[in-house]
Amino acid sequence: MFIKRKKGWELPDSAATPEAAYKRHSRRRLLATGAAGVVAIGAGAALWMSRRGGSVPQGTASTTAAADAQTAEAADPSTSLYPAMRNMRYRLDREITDEKVSTTYNNFYEFGSSKNIWQAAQRLPIRPWEIRIDGKVEKERTVGIDDLLKAVSLEERVYRHRCVEAWAMAVPWTGFPMKDLVAFAKPLSAAKFVRMETFNNPDVAPGLKASWYPWPYIEGLTIEEATNELAFLATGIYGKPVVKQMGAPLRLVTPWKYGFKSIKSIVRFTFTEERPKSFWEVIQGSEYGFWANVNPKVPHPRWSQATEELIGTNGTRVPTQLFNGYGDFVAQLYADKQSERLWT
Ligand code: MTE
Repeated sequence: MFIKRKKGWELPDSAATPEAAYKRHSRRRLLATGAAGVVAIGAGAALWMSRRGGSVPQGTASTTAAADAQTAEAADPSTSLYPAMRNMRYRLDREITDEKVSTTYNNFYEFGSSKNIWQAAQRLPIRPWEIRIDGKVEKERTVGIDDLLKAVSLEERVYRHRCVEAWAMAVPWTGFPMKDLVAFAKPLSAAKFVRMETFNNPDVAPGLKASWYPWPYIEGLTIEEATNELAFLATGIYGKPVVKQMGAPLRLVTPWKYGFKSIKSIVRFTFTEERPKSFWEVIQGSEYGFWANVNPKVPHPRWSQATEELIGTNGTRVPTQLFNGYGDFVAQLYADKQSERLWT
């Protein structure tokens, strides 16, 4: 049951039902919703593609997915880092979403435009995984994910996660504050934005063969956003390394923004003077802007944002909150930007 709260994160976690108690929630209901009730974010892309002539490839389950996953898991040297201690500063007003639900209902267009890409995503090799840090930094460098993990300290945070398609979940991420990555990168004072880029290997991700999309997936934040305490780089989920379909081995989490900002499987951080143009912004800038902060009063052309469906709960809808309930952390970032299109 959805619990009323005073402010987004004020309820103690004890008020949220533990995962075991809500395992009964039916995945079937979720899949039915996915099929019938929710129009994919890619409908914006469909408009764009209809101008260019093309169709979106669907997720293709690899027959070797299970074997690939096992091999990759065995080879993941970070497994012993999990679970990490939960940071109790970040509280939920709702139940944590059942792991089986959140990890089988995903947007990851590199693997197809359906929500059912989790098996296809198992083909992504996540070791070795190198991350390029370049642009306006003291020294450009490339760092392996396991060396990066040695340079930071991991913690768990429970955050709400809100897609522009008007569904929501609550997820226990493990990772580190993005401000630690920024400190690691040592940006020059000229750097005003961080541009992030996803891997781009069509041999493992069939969606990348869809040449009408502006691959690779790109996202961006201002330096102030990237160093806000909420901005988080996830390397784990549910007390384990993050699953491939949710962005292994390194994924952005910005809970006050719509989910499309949360770029998955990052291979590059570029510090820039110019505001980067993100993937969805290139496709349909009138629908998916740079700022993309959650606001119940500003509808997307195809989705009212007034309420959101909590996935895995038999269709429970709850009111959407300004900045997804995180306004006390982030509203000040936008105080001098009121003339900009801050929402969607
Ligand atoms: N990152 C990449 N590289 N490719 C994608 O297609 N989809 C985005 C975002 N990050 C996407 C991505 C969208 S639209 C959403 S809503 C979230 O991932 C979904 O995250 P989840 O599947 O972990 O819930």
